[in-house]
Amino acid sequence: MSIHKKSKRVTAETLRTMKHENEKISMLTAYDYTLAKMVDASGVDAILVGDSASNVMAGHETTLPITLEQMIYHAQSVVRASERALVVVDLPFGTYQSDSQKALDSAVRIMKESGAHAVKLEGGKNIKKSIKKIINAGIPVMGHLGLTPQSIYQFGTYKVRAKEEEEAQTLLEEAQLLDDLGCFALVLEKIPAALAKQVTQKISIPTIGIGAGAECDGQVLVLQDMLGMTHEFKPRFLRQYLNLYDEITGAVTQYVKDVKDGGFPNKNEQY
Ligand code: KIV
Repeated sequence: MSIHKKSKRVTAETLRTMKHENEKISMLTAYDYTLAKMVDASGVDAILVGDSASNVMAGHETTLPITLEQMIYHAQSVVRASERALVVVDLPFGTYQSDSQKALDSAVRIMKESGAHAVKLEGGKNIKKSIKKIINAGIPVMGHLGLTPQSIYQFGTYKVRAKEEEEAQTLLEEAQLLDDLGCFALVLEKIPAALAKQVTQKISIPTIGIGAGAECDGQVLVLQDMLGMTHEFKPRFLRQYLNLYDEITGAVTQYVKDVKDGGFPNKNEQY
Protein backbone atom coordinates (compact mmCIF):
# COMPACT_ATOMS: atom_id res chain seq x y z
CA MET A 1 0.00 0.00 0.00
CA SER A 2 1.54 3.29 -1.09
CA ILE A 3 1.28 6.44 0.97
CA HIS A 4 0.73 9.46 -1.27
CA LYS A 5 3.04 12.29 -0.22
CA LYS A 6 1.46 15.40 1.29
CA SER A 7 3.18 17.79 -1.10
CA LYS A 8 2.07 16.16 -4.35
CA ARG A 9 -1.24 17.27 -5.89
CA VAL A 10 -3.81 14.48 -5.88
CA THR A 11 -5.34 13.95 -9.33
CA ALA A 12 -8.31 12.04 -10.67
CA GLU A 13 -5.82 9.39 -11.74
CA THR A 14 -4.41 9.20 -8.19
CA LEU A 15 -7.85 8.21 -6.90
CA ARG A 16 -8.11 5.40 -9.47
CA THR A 17 -4.66 4.18 -8.42
CA MET A 18 -5.65 4.31 -4.76
CA LYS A 19 -8.56 1.95 -5.44
CA HIS A 20 -6.28 -0.53 -7.13
CA GLU A 21 -3.73 -0.28 -4.32
CA ASN A 22 -6.43 -0.69 -1.65
CA GLU A 23 -5.75 2.72 -0.15
CA LYS A 24 -8.94 4.32 1.15
CA ILE A 25 -9.87 7.75 -0.18
CA SER A 26 -10.84 10.57 2.18
CA MET A 27 -13.01 13.39 0.91
CA LEU A 28 -14.68 16.28 2.75
CA THR A 29 -16.69 19.24 1.58
CA ALA A 30 -15.48 22.82 1.92
CA TYR A 31 -16.91 26.04 0.59
CA ASP A 32 -14.64 28.79 1.93
CA TYR A 33 -10.94 29.69 2.09
CA THR A 34 -10.36 29.44 5.85
CA LEU A 35 -11.81 25.98 6.39
CA ALA A 36 -10.51 24.64 3.05
CA LYS A 37 -6.98 25.61 4.11
CA MET A 38 -7.30 23.55 7.31
CA VAL A 39 -8.88 20.61 5.49
CA ASP A 40 -6.16 20.61 2.84
CA ALA A 41 -3.38 20.89 5.44
CA SER A 42 -4.85 17.90 7.30
CA GLY A 43 -4.13 15.61 4.36
CA VAL A 44 -7.56 14.97 2.90
CA ASP A 45 -7.32 13.48 -0.61
CA ALA A 46 -10.19 15.38 -2.22
CA ILE A 47 -12.24 18.45 -1.36
CA LEU A 48 -15.77 18.60 -2.68
CA VAL A 49 -17.20 22.05 -3.23
CA GLY A 50 -20.66 20.55 -2.86
CA ASP A 51 -23.93 22.18 -3.74
CA SER A 52 -24.71 21.41 -0.10
CA ALA A 53 -23.33 24.96 0.22
CA SER A 54 -26.92 25.86 -0.57
CA ASN A 55 -27.96 24.37 2.80
CA VAL A 56 -24.85 24.88 4.88
CA MET A 57 -23.70 28.32 3.73
CA ALA A 58 -26.94 29.94 2.57
CA GLY A 59 -29.53 28.26 4.80
CA HIS A 60 -31.76 26.97 2.01
CA GLU A 61 -33.88 23.91 2.69
CA THR A 62 -32.60 22.10 -0.44
CA THR A 63 -29.62 22.22 -2.82
CA LEU A 64 -31.78 23.45 -5.68
CA PRO A 65 -31.51 27.25 -5.33
CA ILE A 66 -27.70 27.60 -5.55
CA THR A 67 -26.52 29.14 -8.84
CA LEU A 68 -23.54 28.46 -11.10
CA GLU A 69 -22.07 31.86 -10.17
CA GLN A 70 -22.36 31.07 -6.45
CA MET A 71 -20.71 27.67 -6.96
CA ILE A 72 -17.87 29.33 -8.88
CA TYR A 73 -17.39 31.84 -6.05
CA HIS A 74 -17.13 29.03 -3.47
CA ALA A 75 -14.84 27.01 -5.74
CA GLN A 76 -12.49 29.96 -6.27
CA SER A 77 -12.09 30.35 -2.50
CA VAL A 78 -11.37 26.63 -2.03
CA VAL A 79 -8.91 26.45 -4.93
CA ARG A 80 -6.96 29.41 -3.48
CA ALA A 81 -6.67 27.50 -0.21
CA SER A 82 -5.70 24.07 -1.48
CA GLU A 83 -2.19 22.89 -2.24
CA ARG A 84 -2.58 19.13 -2.25
CA ALA A 85 -6.18 17.96 -2.48
CA LEU A 86 -8.08 17.32 -5.69
CA VAL A 87 -10.82 19.97 -5.85
CA VAL A 88 -14.13 18.69 -7.24
CA VAL A 89 -17.06 21.04 -7.83
CA ASP A 90 -20.76 20.18 -8.07
CA LEU A 91 -22.61 21.33 -11.16
CA PRO A 92 -25.69 22.92 -9.61
CA PHE A 93 -29.29 22.01 -10.38
CA GLY A 94 -30.46 23.29 -13.77
CA THR A 95 -27.02 23.73 -15.32
CA TYR A 96 -26.63 20.32 -16.99
CA GLN A 97 -29.91 18.41 -17.18
CA SER A 98 -31.53 20.09 -20.21
CA ASP A 99 -28.88 19.45 -22.88
CA SER A 100 -25.31 18.34 -23.21
CA GLN A 101 -24.00 21.62 -24.69
CA LYS A 102 -25.33 23.54 -21.69
CA ALA A 103 -23.72 20.94 -19.42
CA LEU A 104 -20.35 21.38 -21.13
CA ASP A 105 -20.64 25.19 -20.99
CA SER A 106 -21.38 25.00 -17.25
CA ALA A 107 -18.46 22.64 -16.59
CA VAL A 108 -16.09 24.79 -18.68
CA ARG A 109 -17.10 27.91 -16.72
CA ILE A 110 -16.34 26.13 -13.43
CA MET A 111 -12.96 24.89 -14.64
CA LYS A 112 -11.90 28.18 -16.27
CA GLU A 113 -13.18 30.60 -13.64
CA SER A 114 -12.31 28.68 -10.48
CA GLY A 115 -9.27 26.61 -11.40
CA ALA A 116 -10.90 23.47 -9.95
CA HIS A 117 -9.78 20.04 -11.11
CA ALA A 118 -13.00 18.12 -11.72
CA VAL A 119 -16.79 18.38 -11.66
CA LYS A 120 -19.52 16.20 -10.15
CA LEU A 121 -22.97 15.54 -11.63
CA GLU A 122 -25.94 13.72 -10.11
CA GLY A 123 -27.62 10.96 -12.11
CA GLY A 124 -27.11 8.09 -14.51
CA LYS A 125 -28.59 7.32 -17.90
CA ASN A 126 -30.70 10.49 -17.94
CA ILE A 127 -27.53 12.61 -18.15
CA LYS A 128 -25.39 10.22 -20.17
CA LYS A 129 -24.89 12.65 -23.08
CA SER A 130 -23.87 15.47 -20.77
CA ILE A 131 -21.31 13.32 -18.98
CA LYS A 132 -19.89 12.09 -22.30
CA LYS A 133 -19.53 15.60 -23.71
CA ILE A 134 -17.82 16.94 -20.59
CA ILE A 135 -15.38 14.02 -20.47
CA ASN A 136 -14.66 14.38 -24.20
CA ALA A 137 -13.65 17.97 -23.53
CA GLY A 138 -10.99 16.71 -21.13
CA ILE A 139 -12.76 17.50 -17.87
CA PRO A 140 -12.69 14.76 -15.21
CA VAL A 141 -16.19 13.81 -14.03
CA MET A 142 -17.24 12.30 -10.70
CA GLY A 143 -20.65 10.60 -10.75
CA HIS A 144 -23.23 10.56 -7.95
CA LEU A 145 -25.95 7.90 -7.49
CA GLY A 146 -28.33 6.79 -4.74
CA LEU A 147 -29.85 9.67 -2.82
CA THR A 148 -29.23 12.52 -5.23
CA PRO A 149 -30.44 15.63 -3.37
CA GLN A 150 -31.18 17.62 -6.54
CA SER A 151 -34.05 15.14 -7.12
CA ILE A 152 -35.49 15.50 -3.62
CA TYR A 153 -38.89 16.65 -4.86
CA GLN A 154 -39.15 13.49 -6.96
CA PHE A 155 -38.06 11.25 -4.05
CA GLY A 156 -40.15 13.11 -1.48
CA THR A 157 -37.87 12.14 1.43
CA TYR A 158 -34.18 11.88 2.39
CA LYS A 159 -34.60 8.20 3.32
CA VAL A 160 -32.22 5.42 2.21
CA ARG A 161 -32.50 4.69 -1.53
CA ALA A 162 -32.37 1.42 -3.50
CA LYS A 163 -33.61 -0.88 -0.73
CA GLU A 164 -35.92 -2.57 -3.24
CA GLU A 165 -34.54 -4.98 -5.85
CA GLU A 166 -35.64 -2.96 -8.90
CA GLU A 167 -34.01 0.29 -7.81
CA ALA A 168 -30.90 -1.60 -6.65
CA GLN A 169 -30.62 -3.26 -10.08
CA THR A 170 -30.96 0.11 -11.84
CA LEU A 171 -28.29 1.58 -9.60
CA LEU A 172 -25.90 -1.27 -10.39
CA GLU A 173 -26.47 -0.76 -14.11
CA GLU A 174 -26.03 2.99 -13.88
CA ALA A 175 -22.82 2.62 -11.86
CA GLN A 176 -21.44 0.42 -14.66
CA LEU A 177 -22.59 2.97 -17.22
CA LEU A 178 -20.77 5.81 -15.43
CA ASP A 179 -17.63 3.65 -15.31
CA ASP A 180 -17.96 2.86 -19.04
CA LEU A 181 -18.49 6.54 -19.89
CA GLY A 182 -15.16 7.36 -18.27
CA CYS A 183 -16.10 8.90 -14.91
CA PHE A 184 -13.08 8.74 -12.57
CA ALA A 185 -15.01 8.12 -9.34
CA LEU A 186 -18.54 7.67 -8.07
CA VAL A 187 -20.27 9.03 -4.98
CA LEU A 188 -22.82 6.62 -3.49
CA GLU A 189 -25.17 8.38 -1.12
CA LYS A 190 -27.44 6.71 1.44
CA ILE A 191 -27.84 3.22 0.01
CA PRO A 192 -27.60 -0.17 1.79
CA ALA A 193 -24.02 -1.15 2.62
CA ALA A 194 -24.44 -4.51 0.88
CA LEU A 195 -25.40 -2.80 -2.38
CA ALA A 196 -22.51 -0.33 -2.11
CA LYS A 197 -20.18 -3.31 -1.65
CA GLN A 198 -21.58 -4.96 -4.79
CA VAL A 199 -21.10 -1.74 -6.80
CA THR A 200 -17.57 -1.29 -5.42
CA GLN A 201 -16.59 -4.81 -6.44
CA LYS A 202 -18.23 -4.55 -9.85
CA ILE A 203 -16.85 -1.29 -11.22
CA SER A 204 -13.27 -0.30 -11.96
CA ILE A 205 -13.49 3.26 -10.60
CA PRO A 206 -13.45 4.16 -6.90
CA THR A 207 -16.72 4.52 -4.99
CA ILE A 208 -16.90 7.23 -2.34
CA GLY A 209 -19.68 6.65 0.15
CA ILE A 210 -21.79 8.83 2.37
CA GLY A 211 -24.17 6.67 4.36
CA ALA A 212 -23.19 3.75 2.11
CA GLY A 213 -21.10 1.61 4.49
CA ALA A 214 -17.49 0.63 5.02
CA GLU A 215 -16.91 -1.31 1.81
CA CYS A 216 -16.74 1.76 -0.42
CA ASP A 217 -13.29 2.75 -1.65
CA GLY A 218 -13.56 6.05 0.20
CA GLN A 219 -15.78 8.20 2.38
CA VAL A 220 -17.11 11.74 2.18
CA LEU A 221 -18.85 13.88 4.79
CA VAL A 222 -20.06 17.44 4.89
CA LEU A 223 -17.40 19.27 6.91
CA GLN A 224 -19.78 21.31 9.06
CA ASP A 225 -21.68 18.12 9.96
CA MET A 226 -18.59 16.17 11.08
CA LEU A 227 -17.35 19.19 13.04
CA GLY A 228 -20.67 19.39 14.88
CA MET A 229 -21.56 22.88 13.65
CA THR A 230 -24.91 21.77 12.24
CA HIS A 231 -25.73 20.20 15.60
CA GLU A 232 -29.37 19.34 14.97
CA PHE A 233 -28.50 17.21 11.93
CA LYS A 234 -27.75 13.74 13.31
CA PRO A 235 -28.30 11.02 10.70
CA ARG A 236 -27.11 7.54 11.62
CA PHE A 237 -24.24 7.62 9.10
CA LEU A 238 -22.68 10.77 10.52
CA ARG A 239 -19.71 10.60 12.88
CA GLN A 240 -19.37 13.90 14.72
CA TYR A 241 -15.70 14.49 15.52
CA LEU A 242 -16.22 17.75 17.40
CA ASN A 243 -19.04 19.73 18.94
CA LEU A 244 -18.18 23.09 17.41
CA TYR A 245 -21.72 24.37 17.88
CA ASP A 246 -21.23 24.31 21.66
CA GLU A 247 -17.60 25.50 21.41
CA ILE A 248 -18.47 28.48 19.22
CA THR A 249 -21.66 29.55 21.00
CA GLY A 250 -19.73 29.21 24.30
CA ALA A 251 -16.92 31.44 23.04
CA VAL A 252 -19.28 34.04 21.59
CA THR A 253 -21.37 34.10 24.79
CA GLN A 254 -18.18 34.74 26.76
CA TYR A 255 -17.13 37.52 24.33
CA VAL A 256 -20.52 39.24 24.67
CA LYS A 257 -20.22 39.06 28.45
CA ASP A 258 -16.65 40.44 28.38
CA VAL A 259 -17.67 43.38 26.16
CA LYS A 260 -20.72 44.17 28.27
CA ASP A 261 -18.88 44.14 31.60
CA GLY A 262 -15.79 45.96 30.26
CA GLY A 263 -13.51 42.92 30.59
CA PHE A 264 -12.50 43.14 26.91
CA PRO A 265 -10.20 44.67 25.83
CA ASN A 266 -7.70 44.75 28.72
CA LYS A 267 -4.52 46.85 28.90
CA ASN A 268 -2.50 44.37 26.81
CA GLU A 269 -5.14 44.31 24.10
CA GLN A 270 -4.99 48.01 23.23
CA TYR A 271 -2.45 50.52 21.81
O1 KIV B 1 -23.14 18.51 -2.06
C1 KIV B 1 -22.60 17.66 -1.33
O2 KIV B 1 -22.11 17.96 -0.22
C2 KIV B 1 -22.54 16.28 -1.79
C3 KIV B 1 -22.04 15.24 -0.83
C4 KIV B 1 -23.07 14.95 0.18
C5 KIV B 1 -21.59 14.03 -1.51
O3 KIV B 1 -22.88 16.02 -2.89
